Amino acid sequence: MFGRSSGKIDLPSVPATLARIIQITSSVDVSSQKVASVVMLDQALATKVLRIANSAFYGRRMKCESVSQAVISLGFTSIRNMAASASVVDVLFPKHMFAGFNWQDMWTHSVTCAVSSEVIYSRMPNSSPANAETAFLGGLLHDIGKMILARALPDRFRRIVEVCRGSEIPMYEAERELLSTDHAIVGGELAQEWGFSEKLRDGIAYHHNPREADKNEDLVLAVCAGNMLSKCIGSSYIIGQEQHVSLEDVSETSGVGAEEIGWHSRAGWRENARMQRDAGVRQ
Ligand SMILES: [Fe+2]
Ligand SMILES: [Fe+2]
Repeated sequence: MFGRSSGKIDLPSVPATLARIIQITSSVDVSSQKVASVVMLDQALATKVLRIANSAFYGRRMKCESVSQAVISLGFTSIRNMAASASVVDVLFPKHMFAGFNWQDMWTHSVTCAVSSEVIYSRMPNSSPANAETAFLGGLLHDIGKMILARALPDRFRRIVEVCRGSEIPMYEAERELLSTDHAIVGGELAQEWGFSEKLRDGIAYHHNPREADKNEDLVLAVCAGNMLSKCIGSSYIIGQEQHVSLEDVSETSGVGAEEIGWHSRAGWRENARMQRDAGVRQ
């Protein structure tokens, strides 16, 4: 389906909360109540949501006593972002450390890509508001294949990082050379295995090769451009790796004006910093 296949890589099972969040945000009649019911099934997440809703940062005068109140107080979008990012961080964040590769910075890149993909998608002429959630999740999960490769094949992942350090070789090229597959293909297979929507799967699978997608072109282009924008405004999570991406490149890929992207990317950084804190990722 995606050309080359990852073949023998063991795919982990989907985090239950993430599966439910993706399911309910894909439906047309999503409500805060439904999101609250998913959050309440996950004790760790419910505790986190309550703690954040009552934290000084949000400056509420009244204490939130229940998850439902917290969902109403924080807003559906914040809860969705928090739930999706917290469940990936809690369940899939690799335990292995690799010299020259920083997982926290990679997660910062993913969160920035999520915000960027949603903003870019929403500004495309033919975008549908119903798919903006998918663009966000596509951006958040676009590099999830890297986590899977690092878990399944740590020695070869270490070698891939070594090849990329101090060079301009993108990881997917080094992966193809050393593994005959890449993290986008593995991520697409994972999305298929986990029963994600076709749009979300395509956003992940084609984020480096949007022209290969024969459907969902706008969404795929938004995630591709979101990834580029995240590289443009952030630093590399591979030490010593150069990334040369300009706002004009992002604009050319997405068809959205560079000025508009520049303005929104600053707003994206603020959202990013808040999400990182909410998901409990150490800075
Ligand atoms: Fe990637
Ligand atoms: Fe990326």
